[in-house]
Amino acid sequence: IMSALGTRSIVLVGMMGAGKSTIGRRLSARLHLPFLDADTEIEAAAGMSIPDIFETHGEPHFRDGEARVIARLLDSGPAVIATGGGAFMREETRNRIRDKAVSIWLKADADIIMKRVKRRADRPLLRTADPAATVGRLIEEREPVYRHADLTIWSRDVPHEKIVDECLDAL
Ligand code: S3P
Repeated sequence: IMSALGTRSIVLVGMMGAGKSTIGRRLSARLHLPFLDADTEIEAAAGMSIPDIFETHGEPHFRDGEARVIARLLDSGPAVIATGGGAFMREETRNRIRDKAVSIWLKADADIIMKRVKRRADRPLLRTADPAATVGRLIEEREPVYRHADLTIWSRDVPHEKIVDECLDAL
């Protein structure tokens, strides 16, 4: 795998709650590569949490920062990189990822996503009157774009290591 991958990174894309950070961390351990979480890096660069960035500066500002952070992570050498659910929607970011990495779409059903995000109140996009409807709309909007990832792996309720094995087999 390492030789086929060369110096390319692995970038996980897909909806919030799809398991990008959890799977990414385990995948990085199996590949002996550093794990980088774009959301965490954005928070470190901004010195505030993602909900605070949205609230203080607005989503467009967050998206610009997100694109810059991902560009920097892609330039920092081979790693497994988990991206926020909206990052892959920007064409410039998709092109950078295509140049420097193998992308994996962690695909998840709406019910799995709803179950997982319910445990976390830190998703500003889901602070709506009807989060389930919002997730449905985001899935519809984003799946045609996520589909352009190099690989697609179904994220479902099976042990994490099984999903990691499927990623490794697909690489
Ligand atoms: C977002 C997903 C979040 C975070 C921000 C926006 C999105 O990341 O970047 O709240 O647009 O889907 P996760 O996908 O890691 O939850």
